[in-house]
Amino acid sequence: LDDVRDDLTDVLISKEQIAGKIGELARRIERDYDDQRPLLVGVLKGAVMVMADLARELRIHIDMDWMAVSSYGAGTKSSGVVRILKDLDTDLTGRHVLIVEDIIDSGLTLSWLLQNLERRGAASVRICALLRKPDAAKVDVHVEYLGFDIPNEFVVGYGLDYAERYRNLKGVAVLAPHVYE
Ligand code: PRP
Ligand code: MN
Ligand code: MG
Repeated sequence: LDDVRDDLTDVLISKEQIAGKIGELARRIERDYDDQRPLLVGVLKGAVMVMADLARELRIHIDMDWMAVSSYGAGTKSSGVVRILKDLDTDLTGRHVLIVEDIIDSGLTLSWLLQNLERRGAASVRICALLRKPDAAKVDVHVEYLGFDIPNEFVVGYGLDYAERYRNLKGVAVLAPHVYE
């Protein structure tokens, strides 16, 4: 059996820490949106775990929809050019939209997405992200609901991948250099 744990160094954020934080964020979101029935927009694929856990923590009515965007083609993450691979099924006119993301790295994906969704006539568009790497920021994005600021290291798990692997880890861990060197 190929043990995934050999590919990891530190567990940066445990599944218990994630669950606690998502509970806190859910309480704030419930209070802020109350009976507004927000539309949660998950960004595939990284956001699936956050969306699944956050949605189940919320004790208010919500809708869920999904977008898939390709950031910067196959190359390195730098250009900021984003393409929509799968668009929303939902009309945003007058809706209160909450974008759900796993991580803000350079910020380019979310700053583009925020503008894109705002132009569709939403009543409000806010961001919920579990992780943010302040030292990797290329653009500033306002995050209303943030889980953790983390160091600029290669992290995987809880939705985050390296070459599509490790998304299924329960916590967030630092990838061992031997995996990508
Ligand atoms: C990752 C992550 C965010 C984005 C953050 O997605 O899930 O969506 O990068 O990077 P940025 O702040 O530099 O734009 P990725 O493009 O790897 O697709 P995935 O969610 O399918 O893994
Ligand atoms: Mn993503
Ligand atoms: Mg990825």
